Amino acid sequence: MKIIKAIFSGSSQNVTGKPAKKLPEFAFIGRSNVGKSSLINALCKQGKLAHTSSTPGKTQLVNHFLINDSWYLVDLPGYGYAKISKTDREKLAAINQNYINESEELRVLFVLLDSRLEIQKIDLQFLTELGEAEVPFAIIYTKCDKQGTFSLNERVENNNKILLEYWEVLPPVFLTSAETGKGREEILDYIGSIIDKKTIQ
Ligand code: GTP
Ligand code: MG
Repeated sequence: MKIIKAIFSGSSQNVTGKPAKKLPEFAFIGRSNVGKSSLINALCKQGKLAHTSSTPGKTQLVNHFLINDSWYLVDLPGYGYAKISKTDREKLAAINQNYINESEELRVLFVLLDSRLEIQKIDLQFLTELGEAEVPFAIIYTKCDKQGTFSLNERVENNNKILLEYWEVLPPVFLTSAETGKGREEILDYIGSIIDKKTIQ
């Protein structure tokens, strides 16, 4: 899968405000600052498409990006940012829940984890809820440029063990860096395979 065109097509707080075109959607979620918006930019090779920031809590709405006029990448607000008010945190959680539960076009939700950290309680809780709601998901490790291959593999192995305490099989797992472009082709090919599967059926 190659991206030849990527354009911002709108922000919404509720699925009723999504772009009117019904096309397959692939969304990115994860703790605040994990690198969701940066990864979308890396996938599209457009540094300023989605807004990024070194301060957590940057993305506050559901942002749709139309790719090749035929599917959407969706940037979601982060979860678990402690330094905002409870009301604001609940508001962002409600925006995410509405999108995840009500979006009929959502094909895969990519859950991003920081490759330098042990999987956190809030991530496990979030993944468990997705499993219960039968939302198809895959895991993406971000910021893989920030450490060597050995510690990266060790971290991923360790997290896989933790995940296997909850699931019998692992979801698809991708290792990425928005800095180097690592994992870009793999994710785009995975998205391509899912779009093709739906078209054939
Ligand atoms: P919110 O919208 O606030 O929830 O954050 P986000 O998950 O969209 O994170 P964002 O893409 O804004 O990135 C957060 C910070 O991490 C920025 O300073 C990025 O430059 C940095 N960052 C993101 N991805 C990578 C990566 O792969 N490698 C490195 N070195 N830094 C990264
Ligand atoms: Mg963001």
